[in-house]
Parts: sequence; C-alpha cells; structure tokens
Amino acid sequence: VRWGILSTGHITHSFAKAVLECEGESLAAVASRRNEQAQAFADQYKIPTSYDSYEALLADKTIEAVYIGTPHPFHAEWSIKASKAGKHVLCEKPLAMNVGEVRNMLDAAQEHHVLLMEAFMYRCHPQTHRLLQVIQKGLIGQVKVIRSSFSFDRDLGLQHRLFNKDLGGGGILDLGCYPVSMSRLLAGAAMGKPYAEPDEVLAAACLGEKSGVDEYASAVLRFPGGILAELSCGIRVERESGTLVVYGSEGRLEVPSPWHCGLTAGETELLRYRNGTQVPEAIKVLSDKGIYALEVEAFSESVRAGCVSPPAMTPEDSLGNMAVLEKWLKTAK
Ligand SMILES: NC(=O)c1ccc[n+]([C@@H]2O[C@H](COP(=O)([O-])OP(=O)(O)OC[C@H]3O[C@@H](n4cnc5c(N)ncnc54)[C@H](OP(=O)(O)O)[C@@H]3O)[C@@H](O)[C@H]2O)c1
Repeated sequence: VRWGILSTGHITHSFAKAVLECEGESLAAVASRRNEQAQAFADQYKIPTSYDSYEALLADKTIEAVYIGTPHPFHAEWSIKASKAGKHVLCEKPLAMNVGEVRNMLDAAQEHHVLLMEAFMYRCHPQTHRLLQVIQKGLIGQVKVIRSSFSFDRDLGLQHRLFNKDLGGGGILDLGCYPVSMSRLLAGAAMGKPYAEPDEVLAAACLGEKSGVDEYASAVLRFPGGILAELSCGIRVERESGTLVVYGSEGRLEVPSPWHCGLTAGETELLRYRNGTQVPEAIKVLSDKGIYALEVEAFSESVRAGCVSPPAMTPEDSLGNMAVLEKWLKTAK
C-alpha cells in the first residue's frame, strides 16, 4: 500500500516507523499545515514527497491510503475528504467526537468504496487474539466482571490538546475509548459475538477547574448475560496506567499490558489464576512485529483483500464504541 500521512504530531512518528517495519508498504507522502514541518518529517523518514496542506496530499492520485493523526475534532472532516478522494482511511482513535460524525464517516467510506478503520492497535496484536480465545474456550469459566483502566498524570499545560476543549481534550475520549472498546470486545467474545453493546451505562467524571475537561472518570457498563464492566480513565491522576482483569466463575485473567501489548517484536503474557490459587499460569504470546506494524499489516491485508470491513475494528464496532463514549461524556458536565 502507498501511504500518505496527514499531520506530523506525536503519534505519526510511531506510524511512520511502523510502515518502515513492514514489507510491501511504502511511505509515499506526508502533509503538514506547515511546510518546514512536512519537509523535516519527510527527511527524517526518507519520504519522497511532502505537502504543505492536507488537501494537496489528497489530490495526489498515487496515494492509496491515508493515516490521520490529527486531534480528534478533525478526524471526521479529513476522513470524509479522504474517502471522497478515493483513499482508504486508517484514522486515529477515537474515530470522531460523536456518533453523528462516525455515521457520516461510515457513509462516505461506503459511498466511495474505501476502507475505514479506527486505529485501535491493541486489536491487531496476537495477545488480544489469545485473550479472546481464552474467554471463548471458557478457561476462566463464565465471564462476570471486566475491570479495565487507562490513566496517567501529566502536567502538559492548558494549551496541550489533552487539556484544551477546542482540541477535543479530556480523558474519556482519548483514553476511555480503550476500556470501552475492550469491554465490548470481551463481553462479545463471552457471548460468541464479535462485540456486544451494554444495556446500561452508569458513569461519572470530574472536570479540571482550569481546563474544564474531564480529568478523571469512571463508568460501569452492564451487558446482557450478567456481565459487568468497570472502567476508568484519567489524564491527571496517577493510578494503574493500564489494567485489565477479567473475572470468571472459575478464575481470573490478568493482562499486564493490555493497550500497548508489545511495542516491538517479542513475548508478552496473560496470567490465568484458577479460583483459590495464588500462583498464576502464564500464557505466553509471541509477536514477530511491534504493535503499530501489526496494525499497518492488518489494514493493508484488508485493502488487498478487496476492501472488506477490517476485522480488527469494523466501522459498525466504532459506531457502538462512540455511542457508549457519548453517554459517558454526558456525565462530564
Ligand atoms: N493509537 C495510539 O497509540 C495513539 C497515541 C497517541 C495519540 N493518539 C491519537 O492520535 C491523535 C493525535 O494525537 P497526538 O498526541 O499525536 O497529537 P499531537 O502531537 O498534538 O499532534 C497532532 C497533529 O495534528 C495536526 N493538526 C491539525 N490540525 C490541528 C489543530 N487545529 N491543532 C493542533 N494540531 C493540529 C498537527 O500536525 P501538522 O501541524 O503537521 O499539520 C499536529 O502536530 C489523537 O486523536 C489521539 O487520540 C493515538
């Protein structure tokens, strides 16, 4: 796939390195709102073409797919423009700011016959695939409670996108999207489905006095079949940075690194505790690539397979995720 990158922020560096890790993938162009920035990024990753506007990159007929790494409020606009330009779209999480935007993105992708995938990298890692097998095989019995969190405390300043309302700031959209998507994925696996939707969402959030954005938040989702998910996220609270524990009728499964799994090729593990035991059985998982490269590969395979929905994260799955995030966000007032 010939890739074009829209924006040159923090995460686009991980993406560019990932493409370079994959055979058969090429970084064909990068676009920034600032010419020097685009040029510097192109030089760093030996990208042959740089553009000083996103529009110019979308007009480049040789680009097959774009990666969108802008702050969330601009995901919908550029995803829709890219679809109209006939480019496949790998867009950063959260896919958009609300359900209406996700629907419009989905419609544009369908109308222009291009692939749209939300860049949930953890969905592409073999650790997550193994986790699903463990649940599906009933190795911890019937799933009852899923507890997950993604949180950190960083004083990044009020201008940083995470603390700036106009740039989609707040922890729920940026980090809460992970526990929501994991809970829906695992509840689905327990029911033999690709994902499940909660029938009840209870939530609360605390806003920063100065930032006005949700700085820490918790939610409980109740799924059909007697499954509860307890979720939390935060950008101004030092607590477990990444937690995932699944409690079943016959034991529990702990996932030490649920979101970044493995940034490079190597071994990760899941820890299975049978009821009444203190010593876990370690379930080892090997990966031949880093997590972002696996995401690039998963997306490209779908492109080559003829634009079917990407299995890692379908647009309909993203729509369900956004619906839960929207409910959670309503409590952040
Ligand atoms: N999957 C992951 O592991 C992961 C990790 C971090 C972030 N993310 C997601 O990726 C997205 C970007 O996060 P980031 O941390 O990379 O952000 P960032 O460092 O602030 O970079 C965002 C980039 O977006 C471009 N941009 C376009 N319009 C903008 C505007 N009005 N204001 C500011 N920037 C604008 C800028 O690039 P130009 O100036 O070059 O145009 C900027 O450098 C977010 O949606 C976030 O949730 C995902």
